[in-house]
Amino acid sequence: MTTQEFLGKENFIISTQTVSESCPSNIALIKYWGKYDNQIPANPSISYTLNHCKTNTTMEFFVNEPFSVQTFLGGNEEVKFAEKIEKYFKNIEQYLPWILKGKYIIKTENTFPHSSGIASSASGFGAIAKCLMKLDEVFSGKESEEESLRKASFLARLGSGSACRSLYNGLVVWGESQVKGSSDLFAVQYPNEEIHEIFKDFNDWVLLIHEGQKSVSSTVGHGLMKTNPYAERRFLEARENFTPMKEILANGDLEGFIKLVEHEALTLHAMMMMSEPAFILMKTGTLEVINKIWDFRKKTRLPLFFTLDAGANVHLLFPNNGSEDKIKSFIEAELLQHTQNNGVVKDVMRF
Ligand code: DP6
Repeated sequence: MTTQEFLGKENFIISTQTVSESCPSNIALIKYWGKYDNQIPANPSISYTLNHCKTNTTMEFFVNEPFSVQTFLGGNEEVKFAEKIEKYFKNIEQYLPWILKGKYIIKTENTFPHSSGIASSASGFGAIAKCLMKLDEVFSGKESEEESLRKASFLARLGSGSACRSLYNGLVVWGESQVKGSSDLFAVQYPNEEIHEIFKDFNDWVLLIHEGQKSVSSTVGHGLMKTNPYAERRFLEARENFTPMKEILANGDLEGFIKLVEHEALTLHAMMMMSEPAFILMKTGTLEVINKIWDFRKKTRLPLFFTLDAGANVHLLFPNNGSEDKIKSFIEAELLQHTQNNGVVKDVMRF
């Protein structure tokens, strides 16, 4: 046996493996903010998986070489990311016993700009988990598609919580809740037959208000929920919000949807402001855009609304229900001016 060979489960000689996978990002509607040990979320969350913003990953596994990880993002070596992945692989060895038995070269590319506020950790860890499940098929044998996807979601969660939702299309739930089959350990798809048509063809245009590094990372932000005096109330509220969300999704109540989704976004940022130490990730442009959206909605009654991630950029949400052209014109004429360099990423959630 050469150094690039490995004895697989069924005693086949396995040599260097190269696998490629792609995974989209997602945008949460009910937010995950706060977690316990082992990436257990403090409350359930629900998100839309995007159609175009993706990470494409190629993983080369040099079997039987000493364990090491080298990563490249868009052709440039990323040493910090490699360290993170090394730690992650060590952490998930209990679920993939072969994982430390070789050397990895991982090449990733995002189809969206870096630091755009689009969750690259979600699509990034989603794609890595999918690659690992392809390798697992070689070393541990084939599982059903459903099982393999669930395990990929489970593994992605251990890399970055929100990543576990990126494994499925459409609306996706992570965290034990009233949604059938939901779990703290992996995400599940929201039942398609319980979603009104209006929610199955939506736009997400991300206004790039601020493209620099965030002042506080999500990891630190989650940690600050541990001492936030409002945390328990917030976790309960997120859980409770699943009751109206289920009704809204079933009966197509767009107005109720808008109210709930914006409330969730503002609550997320309110939690940041009430942390100790407090921090604010919104910028002036974020607030200007929010106020303009509210004015526009008041005047036109058209369904343009927003959500925010842990950053300054604004996700503009609106359905493709006949009013989208007017909304798009308004965005171009009035909102783009609040971005850095006219930056906007136009995505869609269609399923
Ligand atoms: C505000 O999934 O990035 O986007 O689990 O520490 O990797 P880690 O955090 P991450 O947190 C995302 C938080 C959020 C809300 C959400 O996506 O639900």
